[in-house]
Amino acid sequence: MNLLKNTLCWSKADLQSIENQQLIQKTILDGDLIIFPTETVYGIGANALDPKASKKIYQAKGRPSDNPLIVHIANKEDVYRYVRFVSEEAETLMNTFWPGPITLIFEKNELVPDETTGGLNTVAIRFPKNDIAQKLIQLSGVPIAAPSANISGKPSSTQFQHVFEDFNGKVDIIIDGGPSEIGLESTVIDMTSEHPTILRPGFITKKMIEKALNHKVLDLSDTKPTGNVKSPGMKYTHYKPKGQVTILNGTIEHMVDYVDSFKQAHQESTISVICESEYVSLFKVPTRPLGSIHNQTEMAHNLFSALRDMDLWAVEYIFIHHLSTDDLGYALMNRLEKAAGYHIINL
Ligand code: TXA
Ligand code: MG
Repeated sequence: MNLLKNTLCWSKADLQSIENQQLIQKTILDGDLIIFPTETVYGIGANALDPKASKKIYQAKGRPSDNPLIVHIANKEDVYRYVRFVSEEAETLMNTFWPGPITLIFEKNELVPDETTGGLNTVAIRFPKNDIAQKLIQLSGVPIAAPSANISGKPSSTQFQHVFEDFNGKVDIIIDGGPSEIGLESTVIDMTSEHPTILRPGFITKKMIEKALNHKVLDLSDTKPTGNVKSPGMKYTHYKPKGQVTILNGTIEHMVDYVDSFKQAHQESTISVICESEYVSLFKVPTRPLGSIHNQTEMAHNLFSALRDMDLWAVEYIFIHHLSTDDLGYALMNRLEKAAGYHIINL
């Protein structure tokens, strides 16, 4: 039987009451689920040390159980409680970027259940910067396992409305922290291999990491979902709107021509474009601006909302302009390529 819960929806101010603080702790220690904001995207959280609680996360998201969860802490020193070894390089990254949008992978110790790490002997740990996230972890008194708060396969959630749509009735509490500051999930870097290896690009770029470590790092994040992948999350579909997504790689003039002819050939279909704000007026179909071509932070902030809007608009064919891959653009294109199932047309 799948009974709907009476989900409590709280604002930041609601966290001030002692009664609510106690309810947060009780909910987490009972092994139930709380959705909370972080600076990257919203997370769906539970007690990381409780195997049953982790299982509930997988169930609520419909997530394959071999795709490990990120363990969130609110104090740098807590890393040493859950892992076997912290290298000097890991410490450098922790000291440079934490609290913040980077997740480090370590060898786990026996306190971290296999259910939380999808059966792996490594654990991904992150110390988020968002004050509501920190408060939740502190109130709980245990580390919080939290993947992005979206039904598996859908775009990550960067607004209260997104999590409400996906999880109302399925979790105990949702805390509304307004739109996510960054809008892209954390950078994931494996610190267990001889050379630190980026598994998912994010706001903390390869360049920033190399500057902090003073040497080059490896990057496996553009591995297509075939063969052996180091991060289980890489092999599953991600960020997909219902419509068919295609990335068009070429000049904006060529893209306008392509979409015009496609529209001619598919008069009955709903077609939309996602592109840099400067180009929106060029298209004759409904077009969703991502943000200014000169402002990658704005584009990151809007990216998942734009993908979710395609479902709200009931779009059948979605064309996205290939963005510059410089700096943060690399992480933006990583998410868009996945949303498109790597369907890219070079114009
Ligand atoms: O910004 C974020 O990281 C957000 C917020 C809520 O903190 N969380 C998030 O979690 O994006 P999730 O589960 O959607 O993505 C975690 C990624 C997945 O691709 C997963 O496979 C990978 O990290 N991952 C987690 N633990 C791992 C491990 N031990 N080894 C390799 N990859 C791991
Ligand atoms: Mg996710």
